[in-house]
Amino acid sequence: MKVVLASGNAGKQREFAALLAPLGYEVVTQTSLGIESAEETGTTFEHNALLKARHAARLSGLPALADDSGIEVDALGGRPGVYSARYAGRDASDAANLELMLHELAGVPAARRTARYRCVLAYVRSADDPQPLLAAGSWEGRVLEAPQGDGGFGYDPVFLPQESALSAAQMTSAAKNAVSHRARALAALVTLLKARSEGVTPTRFSPG
Ligand code: IMP
Repeated sequence: MKVVLASGNAGKQREFAALLAPLGYEVVTQTSLGIESAEETGTTFEHNALLKARHAARLSGLPALADDSGIEVDALGGRPGVYSARYAGRDASDAANLELMLHELAGVPAARRTARYRCVLAYVRSADDPQPLLAAGSWEGRVLEAPQGDGGFGYDPVFLPQESALSAAQMTSAAKNAVSHRARALAALVTLLKARSEGVTPTRFSPG
């Protein structure tokens, strides 16, 4: 069965395709179908993921999958959270966002720089599916005082995962994809999809 991914990101498409293929899903991006991104007007990851999934399903006529993610920094009261991509302003670059975070955290000691990446996935069978599936995953760590490494994207150079000596930008993409917030949310979604195909109907699952 075809499922449209509410994203144009080839990396995300490969990651989702690999995990969903064994369940019989073929993942196509909304960009490949000529569908433009929905405006992210929600104030929670759940709301944004759901509105992106419903938008993609409405315009494609196919089941749709969307993710919304960001980083929550405890010393910043959970900011930037859902606003991670536009922390330093609309269309801000990764570099500008990361620089603003280091500036706001200047002088904060290592023990109080705790943070986590969060990801929520939404899956709908149609635009107005009354029983969407929502799955969440998080990845705990802390914000470094200076960038390390040049892999990954976004805040990866300043994110040091718990129990890791390497920043997320120093990890191979395979290592990151095995433990990241997105990988955990995707594993949780696979659990929900399997449960529903077996006739059980929980609609939310988060492994914590
Ligand atoms: P979105 O989920 O595509 O809206 O992205 C949200 C934003 O959160 C990204 O632009 C990044 O700034 C940040 N983010 C989410 N996941 C990651 C990650 O795995 N590494 C680095 N930054 C991330």
